[in-house]
Amino acid sequence: MPIFLDSGNLKEIDKYLKMGIIRGVTTNPTILLNDGVTGGMKGIKARSVEIARLINPLPLSVEVTTNDPLLMRSQAQELAAIAPNINIKITIHGPNGESQNLEVIHELETERNIRVNVTAMMSAQQCLVAAMAGATYVSLFGGRMANMGYNPCEEIVRLRKVLDDFNLKAKIIIGSTREVLNIIEWLDAGAHFVTVVPNLLEGMIIHPYSKETVRQFLADAARMETRLETEHLCPAAEMNITKTDTVIAKSIQN
Ligand code: E4P
Repeated sequence: MPIFLDSGNLKEIDKYLKMGIIRGVTTNPTILLNDGVTGGMKGIKARSVEIARLINPLPLSVEVTTNDPLLMRSQAQELAAIAPNINIKITIHGPNGESQNLEVIHELETERNIRVNVTAMMSAQQCLVAAMAGATYVSLFGGRMANMGYNPCEEIVRLRKVLDDFNLKAKIIIGSTREVLNIIEWLDAGAHFVTVVPNLLEGMIIHPYSKETVRQFLADAARMETRLETEHLCPAAEMNITKTDTVIAKSIQN
């Protein structure tokens, strides 16, 4: 099923989990910082324990906080050991294009039995390389791509085709959602999952015309109650009123 929640907020996660409409959670250092996590890796671990427990057995993606390959390996193992439903997020390369991340990704997937979600990717080509390295998930940042003038839908179509054609196991997660429309259009283009920020999920659910329709139903249900009570309190037979009088009374109420 296609929707993940892009959040580190326990209350929000719990809310949508109880509705049964999310199938996993993704986080990153920016999200966790905005959702009140402090204390570096210790804080990340503590929040991850809580989220992983809450959503178990659904998957939770947690990102490493370093670009040092040795530290990346040890953080990945530390985080993955927290709970069986944790996947490790590693960026496709470092801040200056350091490409040793792929070696770490390959090792974690093939030798350490750790599922990796390769993140911060802006093109089908980057995702293909990550998939070749053995990634379980490849995360495309649709909103950021669109900000740079690229069409995320076109990249998703091309990426899904090569993943399927070459039988690569990686599943596409598209994130960086900016508009409610992104969710359905990116799934339609072939993404396996869209990771959605909570306010856009709310936008998927609520529609102004649905509100108006519900108001109409509730108002008419209330009118119906009043009418039933009136009829019960003043039955025509007991009060010796003719059938015609009752019809007239009803038309006045209307
Ligand atoms: C995906 O996994 C990321 O957490 C994410 O969607 C980042 O999006 P942003 O562009 O809003 O930071």
